[in-house]
Amino acid sequence: MAPANTLPAWAELQSHRDSVGKSFVLKEAFASDPARFERFARTFTAPGVADVLFDFSKNFLTDETLDLLVKLAEQAGVERKRDAMFRGDKINFTEKRAVYHTALRNVSGWEMKVEGKDVMGGPNGVNTVLDHMKEFSGQVRSGEWKGFTGKKLTNIINVGIGGSDLSGPVMVTEALKHYGADDLTLHFVSNIDGTHMAEALKASDPETTLFLIASKTFTTAETITNANTAKTWFLKKTDGKGDIAKHFVALSTNESEVTKFGIDAKNMFGFESWVGGRYSVWSAIGLSVAIYVGFDNFYKFLSGAHAMDKHFRETPLKDNIPVLGGLLSVWYSDFFQAQTHLVAPFDQYLHRFPAYLQQLSMESNGKSITSDGSSAKYTTGPILFGEPCTNAQHSFFQLVHQGTKLIPTDFILAAKSHNPISDNLHQKMLASNYFAQAEALMVGKTDEEVRAEGTPEDLVPHKRFLGNRPTTSILVGDVIGPAELGALIAYYEHLTFTEGAIWDINSFDQWGVELGKVLAKKILKELDEAGNGDGHDTSTGGLISAFKKYAKI
Ligand SMILES: *[C@@H]1O[C@H](CO)[C@@H](O)[C@H](O)[C@H]1NC(C)=O
Ligand SMILES: *[C@@H]1O[C@H](CO)[C@@H](O)[C@H](O)[C@H]1NC(C)=O
Ligand SMILES: *[C@@H]1O[C@H](CO)[C@@H](O)[C@H](O)[C@H]1NC(C)=O
Repeated sequence: MAPANTLPAWAELQSHRDSVGKSFVLKEAFASDPARFERFARTFTAPGVADVLFDFSKNFLTDETLDLLVKLAEQAGVERKRDAMFRGDKINFTEKRAVYHTALRNVSGWEMKVEGKDVMGGPNGVNTVLDHMKEFSGQVRSGEWKGFTGKKLTNIINVGIGGSDLSGPVMVTEALKHYGADDLTLHFVSNIDGTHMAEALKASDPETTLFLIASKTFTTAETITNANTAKTWFLKKTDGKGDIAKHFVALSTNESEVTKFGIDAKNMFGFESWVGGRYSVWSAIGLSVAIYVGFDNFYKFLSGAHAMDKHFRETPLKDNIPVLGGLLSVWYSDFFQAQTHLVAPFDQYLHRFPAYLQQLSMESNGKSITSDGSSAKYTTGPILFGEPCTNAQHSFFQLVHQGTKLIPTDFILAAKSHNPISDNLHQKMLASNYFAQAEALMVGKTDEEVRAEGTPEDLVPHKRFLGNRPTTSILVGDVIGPAELGALIAYYEHLTFTEGAIWDINSFDQWGVELGKVLAKKILKELDEAGNGDGHDTSTGGLISAFKKYAKI
């Protein structure tokens, strides 16, 4: 593949940006074109999923921009790469693996094969594991599954890290809290900081606690350390009478390690090597979600994502919603030097959504080497950040409105609230802010307008808003239920895919998280040995030696 900046459309976009882009004023584009909204808004429709309106019209776009961006996608082979993913090709090329999380949500009869082998059936097949999850989650919810003293298990502790925690279960159970069983308490322990496990155990009764240990290889250092601490606690609290097999299950594929730990191999939920951590909530890693919201809702969650997969797979580029999202991101990153991408949901249930997207986007596209091993001569993955609004409006939105940086922003709102309290007053206030932020970022406030408010002349520049800040508003046509959440996540997954396809990088590996892990392992040993950080640079050595002195380890 050719580097993105050598594609003919790249040069065309560059001159287009120089001629049109520099003087493009959103406010004027709307004034001169009453059809602008209709032309650049797209509605995602699918059976079983509420409509989702994506308003791209408040972006630096003209018909010509759109044509050129689509041309760039064509020249970069976005469709070819997308089809390769859905075919099960080994597009995770640094590790020669398929990237096949879309098979986990194949609810409509697509053929899904890796190396010529159907992945839906068989012992670790998608449908086999789903059936097992359905059975087990049903038993836990109904109380048919009992602890060693015959009590229902009502306290669930999911032990995982990265994709098996943050990017999946934590965010999704929070987002679907409205659907959660009232008699279940969930804890997610990921941090190796002992505080995380200690606080979860403090609130737990071993007779009613179920541990889900999530680690594909069952060797992840943080997770296994936390799991062993949990096991020790469990055995101690039950005077050794507790039955591990009734209280611990594994979301893993390493049968020998799992059984060595004491978990019954029957209570192991597997997934294949083509499930990347940041795409694993759709797999057995989603078991905590299935238990909490019920399997039917979990299935709807998969279906919503599948509906977005279908849209991504079948819709021409120009109307392909995640492709448009990805193209805009490339447009701002590479032609406007935007360094960030802000996602601000007007939705309290989505409070972990930006954190989830951080892993999805930055672990995928925080790369600088292209497919032929050379350094990219252009900017790749943006710094993604966000917080739920309206809280964010009272913190960092000052910088978004009046700072020196261009921050392309996505706003998300559900038309209906799960909690329409006070006669929908809260929802109407929330919605007003959602509309107002995007409008304010676009129109700004001129000196004349500031003066007209009777502002003293010396304050006029301080109260000026330049405006012309691009936003994409996403409006879900109902509440955000399991299917809509699935579709929203899949939108960002495919947006990220599109960016990576254009940048010609491998969006699926994550070597960048390895180096620190390796060094930590080495330093852990040194903490128990004599010596004062010898062999390190003086800063690292000095810190290690000070730590030993203060902590008296
Ligand atoms: C998924 O794909 C397989 C073929 O690989 C197909 O037979 C099956 O019906 C599909 N859907 C479901 C829900 O399993
Ligand atoms: C299981 O764990 C063992 C011991 O760490 C390791 O050697 C082996 O590769 C793992 N197997 C799988 C399938 O992850
Ligand atoms: C790609 O390969 C890497 C390295 O083995 C692996 O860690 C990652 O999970 C794979 N990604 C996907 C999406 O399967």
